[in-house]
Amino acid sequence: MPHRSLEAIFANNQRWAEAIKSEQPDFFKTLAEQQSPDFLWIGCADSRVPANEIMGLLPGEVFVHRNVANVVVHTDFNCLSVIQYAVDVLKVRHIIVTGHYGCGGVRAALENRSMGLIDNWLRHIKDVYIHHQRLFDHLDTEEACDLLCELNVCDQVAHVCHTTIVQDAWKRGQHLTVHGLVYSLEDGILHDLAVNVSGMAEISTIYRMYSDQDMLDRLPSHRRRQLRDSPDTLR
Ligand code: CO
Repeated sequence: MPHRSLEAIFANNQRWAEAIKSEQPDFFKTLAEQQSPDFLWIGCADSRVPANEIMGLLPGEVFVHRNVANVVVHTDFNCLSVIQYAVDVLKVRHIIVTGHYGCGGVRAALENRSMGLIDNWLRHIKDVYIHHQRLFDHLDTEEACDLLCELNVCDQVAHVCHTTIVQDAWKRGQHLTVHGLVYSLEDGILHDLAVNVSGMAEISTIYRMYSDQDMLDRLPSHRRRQLRDSPDTLR
């Protein structure tokens, strides 16, 4: 691809703004007044994985956080602040962690070479590998890379659910579901990894900030009776 200059960016931007304005004259006025996205997207910083375009959504419809290899680390105040603002203030209803096949960060985590500071960040993906190591027996490099892209998403979905932010939202009765998707660069298709989590009962006990009893206490009485009859529902 030829190198592009910053002048080209400004020219593109003019054309883009004019095209949108001619289709929807009020677009920028409405956009400037408020944002009320239903989705928070946590995805890879990879230049080939743009959140809005993939989901067919316009500016204002998705709140976005991106970092190398879509990692959610318990002490990353950048990511935590994005999640907190999205959940508490914007009241998004879905948090979507999206990985992508062919992720350079994930591939690097499977290797034993040094690229500098980023090696420390990619340690988190090596942790994912170690947690699920036996699943990698007998896989070739490409298969291992694809599997680690998928497992990384599943583990990061769990990390989102373990935050105080998401658990507090569930405790308040706020509707919030965390999803894990993986995107294929080859055909542009998003795949659902079926790791949707929408309540405290679906996360491991060790990470829960509220006991089953706390959660039961805030349920309507008919639901409490129902659950008492089938105690396995809240594990
Ligand atoms: Co990537």
